[in-house]
Amino acid sequence: MRGLILSGGKGTRLRPITHTSAKQLIPVANKPVLFYGIEALREAGIREIGLVVGETRAEIRQAVGNGSRWDVAVTYIEQEAPLGLAHAVLISEPFLRDEAFIMYLGDNVLRGGVTELVREFESRRPNAQILLARVPNPEQFGVAELDGGRVRSLVEKPREPRSDLALVGVYMFDHQIFKAVREIKPSARGELEITDAIQWLVDHGFDVAPHVVTGWWKDMGRPEDLLEANRMMLDLLEPRIDGSVDAASRVEFKVVIEPEAEILNSTVRGPAIIGQGSIIRNSFIGPFTSVGPGCRIENCEIEHSIVLEGSRILDLGTRIVDSLIGKDVEVTRHHRRPQAYRLMLGDASRVGLL
Ligand code: TTP
Repeated sequence: MRGLILSGGKGTRLRPITHTSAKQLIPVANKPVLFYGIEALREAGIREIGLVVGETRAEIRQAVGNGSRWDVAVTYIEQEAPLGLAHAVLISEPFLRDEAFIMYLGDNVLRGGVTELVREFESRRPNAQILLARVPNPEQFGVAELDGGRVRSLVEKPREPRSDLALVGVYMFDHQIFKAVREIKPSARGELEITDAIQWLVDHGFDVAPHVVTGWWKDMGRPEDLLEANRMMLDLLEPRIDGSVDAASRVEFKVVIEPEAEILNSTVRGPAIIGQGSIIRNSFIGPFTSVGPGCRIENCEIEHSIVLEGSRILDLGTRIVDSLIGKDVEVTRHHRRPQAYRLMLGDASRVGLL
């Protein structure tokens, strides 16, 4: 089986972070989301992976390279515009050829990987196998209606969902899907929808097998999804201290301190990760926090947050919670007059003040 990971798209809902960075490279527990997908496929024995890329192709190539780091061969497939998930399948036919494949959305994380799912697909060999998860907000997803053990219908982001079963971003197909993606027409939002392609398979008598996932899965659509994924992935980390922790500091519960990071007169309460070369001084880093490499946090408290590479958070009087702070950001307190907020925020930034 081959793998197809979708890494194009726009990531509009994660602006401003995605103004400067591909959504799939946003770190979760200090590792790009996309790497979890590559690792999951590799673990399932998949060695040939096609990576669909769009506008952010250069950055993704730079991060992933030829895949040798994971012992996989990566082929880049250029998508000229984000014309839909089914469009990504359509343009990938020369790479996928007649082989069955697993399609994985590059902004999804699935705890527990895909190995069992691939095995199930290979032993049963339906024409397609889709993954479904029960969600509280099905109107934001592709939604499936089942009839006994079979898929009856699939609708993309329905106003009035007929079930709470959302399509998870992992699909398995045999070559019949290429007929489907050639037959369907773009939806009202101008995309070739994978839900329409799968519905075409159902309507033409092909075997579409549903698999309801009980394990945890997350799609990185919105900032709160990122924090949730970060929470889950931090919880899986093996604690280790490769940096330095001085005698006045405490490191509690599951914590990873990367090489050259320094913890000075501070408490780090896990699950948390402190990236390479970061300095934490006179501060409290609370549970579910990922601090990227090269950051400086001084005289602050921060919890349930993600801080990306190179940022500085200094001398704040109040605790930062539930926050997503981009690369090279500075948040600091000035004592100069007039006493006022001095902001320089990028487009689509959001700030919650006390
Ligand atoms: P989406 O989350 O549906 O789209 P998006 O990334 O453009 O985000 P937003 O809605 O916030 O603008 O995409 C799911 C995944 O599939 C994501 O990794 C991007 C990728 N994708 C493609 O590679 N090509 C496409 O044509 C589309 C629509 C998505």
